[in-house]
Amino acid sequence: MSNILVENHESIAVVTINRPQQLNALNLATIKELNAALENLRADAAVRAVVITGAGDKAFVAGADIKEFAAFSPAEGAAMARNGQQLVFDYIEGFSKPVLAAINGFALGGGLELAMACHMRIAASTAKMGLPEVTLGIIPGYGGTQRLPQLVGKGKAFEMIFSGAMLTAEEALQWGLVNKVVEKEALLTEALALLQKMTKNAPGAIAKTIVAVNDAFRDGVNGYETEISEFGSCFESDEFVEGTTAFTEKRKPNF
Ligand code: COA
Repeated sequence: MSNILVENHESIAVVTINRPQQLNALNLATIKELNAALENLRADAAVRAVVITGAGDKAFVAGADIKEFAAFSPAEGAAMARNGQQLVFDYIEGFSKPVLAAINGFALGGGLELAMACHMRIAASTAKMGLPEVTLGIIPGYGGTQRLPQLVGKGKAFEMIFSGAMLTAEEALQWGLVNKVVEKEALLTEALALLQKMTKNAPGAIAKTIVAVNDAFRDGVNGYETEISEFGSCFESDEFVEGTTAFTEKRKPNF
């Protein structure tokens, strides 16, 4: 899996998109490898959270691989979007453990879409983010038209997509596109520190939270109903026994 590197930092896996010469552009092979890596991490109970970042000091991911898709037919373009969304972008959104994008440089097109599919984003102060697809005569195809308005609102999403312009990290923070901006050298440490606090908490309850929050954005689904049933199901879990027992015994829970 040369396009994807996975390194474990205790219970947190760091997944690095590793095509620095091409600014980590997502070709079809990388999409497949990323899916395979994520499937392994999902199945590994020792892994409690995931960071996604880019290799090299320039880019998180500079988009889908333009050189690869330049000669695609409409059917190939649609297949690229559909497969990519299923294998990676929707897969990350529905991942049962927290996934955080550590945006270390350019996050453009499919790169920003990858970051937006993650549950949280922190950015290096030098990072630049945008959806420049219309400058290439296409639209975002990896969920960008749907997730950007969820994060920044419809008007700002139109502005970003129509202009194809890049936001600085500070602007992205003001727009609500990223959770936090940190110095580039501190990015990974900050990402791990943020997730370490979360991995102390009940993993099953976190997985249920992901399901319930995602249902707020699913057509034809009543997220409040999802919350009620997920909430109810917590009461039969070992985590619930441990969490409430630890509280009454005045000790920290061990999840
Ligand atoms: N797809 C394929 N290759 C890409 C790429 C992409 N999305 N983004 C960068 N690369 C490649 C370049 O072609 C170049 O390869 P080469 O050395 O073989 O020619 C290499 O990565 C370095 O990029 P380069 O453009 O020389 O770096 P730069 O510092 O001058 O510019 C960017 C950086 C990010 C501004 C510029 O690469 C860019 O605009 N990339 C495309 C962004 C984009 O439109 N993404 C949306 C795609 S849908």
